[in-house]
Amino acid sequence: MVTLRKIDRRDAELLSRLSIDTFVQAYEGVHSKEDLNSYCRANYSIASTETLLASRDVEAVLAIENTEPAGFYVAKHHPCPVELFGLSTELKQIYVLSSHFGGGIGGELFSHVVDAGKERGSKWLWLCVSDINYRAQAFYKKLGFSVIGRGPKLFVGNDILSSSIMALDIETLSA
Ligand SMILES: CC(C)(COP(=O)(O)OP(=O)(O)OC[C@H]1O[C@@H](n2cnc3c(N)ncnc32)[C@H](O)[C@@H]1OP(=O)(O)O)[C@@H](O)C(=O)NCCC(=O)NCCS
Repeated sequence: MVTLRKIDRRDAELLSRLSIDTFVQAYEGVHSKEDLNSYCRANYSIASTETLLASRDVEAVLAIENTEPAGFYVAKHHPCPVELFGLSTELKQIYVLSSHFGGGIGGELFSHVVDAGKERGSKWLWLCVSDINYRAQAFYKKLGFSVIGRGPKLFVGNDILSSSIMALDIETLSA
């Protein structure tokens, strides 16, 4: 059974570890080991995770299956770079351990972040996804997101990726 729990800066070490494990699992075979390590060092250190979790606008939720972490999301309540009418929440990360892909955890995390956005008064959930992350794009399209514009260039070590911004109107989603 999966349980979800909110985490805070005291869980920085756990989230740092899980961010690295899920990122490497998702992109090994796409980027070199050196590029993956470089990205993780730059983005998922315990110190930077603690800073992220300390932000008032950030919410993070862990999925636990049989007492073990199995996935998580990190969301930030702030405006989208593509202008949207109404408040918005960014889904910064949603990751599930590959051993649990297809097991429903991503869907549960998604429902939770929709509720978290609505509680903060957001009309929109938006995110940035790399243009070569076909699995994630398919997942987001299935959930109802549409591409609304070009995103920033993403740097994974020496690899430079284009990205897209996707958004979903959560105000009109039924519970
Ligand atoms: C994307 C991800 C979070 C999905 O999590 P998951 O636990 O495998 O997804 P679920 O099993 O909960 O599926 C939820 C729904 O999405 C659908 N779905 C899941 N993966 C899908 C995919 N790749 N393409 C299309 N639909 C998909 C499922 O069929 C399910 O639909 P249903 O409720 O109608 O049956 C997971 O694959 C992952 O962590 N990927 C690697 C990390 C990543 O790319 N994150 C996004 C970075 S931008």
